[in-house]
Amino acid sequence: MTIKIETIFSSQQIQDRIAEIADEIAEKSYSKDILLIGLLNGCYMFVADLARALYKTSISLTIDFMKVSSYGNKTTSSGEVCLEKDIRQPIRDKCVLIVDDIIDTGNSLTAVLQTFETHHPKSIQTCVLLDKPDRREVQIQPDYIGFQIPNEFVVGYGLDYAEQYRELPYIGILKI
Ligand code: IMP
Ligand code: MG
Repeated sequence: MTIKIETIFSSQQIQDRIAEIADEIAEKSYSKDILLIGLLNGCYMFVADLARALYKTSISLTIDFMKVSSYGNKTTSSGEVCLEKDIRQPIRDKCVLIVDDIIDTGNSLTAVLQTFETHHPKSIQTCVLLDKPDRREVQIQPDYIGFQIPNEFVVGYGLDYAEQYRELPYIGILKI
């Protein structure tokens, strides 16, 4: 079996877009203090670069992570979401920014939002690097989106296929 990865966003394109998103967040945020919550594992590179881009703006961050999962080693979502790791602090009265690598069916982000809404944050916004709008199963539109992509399975820049390819500095379509 030969696997090929066809680059769709170079490292430079990703960094340029992240700088724009950081400026957009700084402009539209309800507060200068944001609790950024990354959704592991896929978000890790995006959170690292987005946090450094936000450092150049007027925003101050507290950063935490949680992990929900709906994918095994498959390339399609199961539709069920389970909480594997929770955040370590209350979100009450905080301006929360949830950050994920990609929104696909929308099930994960919707489940996280539903949990958080019952804990009375001051505001909740969502930010994803990639959006596959054709695959949506629930109606949800992130507040900040890096790039819209077609219905293809992508890897790199934190995104995996069976835990592989996360380390790639670019994003590509996995061709099996
Ligand atoms: P959703 O719940 O279907 O929106 O899926 C969101 C999660 O599925 C993402 O956070 C990713 O971890 C994973 N995912 C969805 N599409 C892809 C893809 O094309 N490549 C790698 N992971 C993906
Ligand atoms: Mg993910």
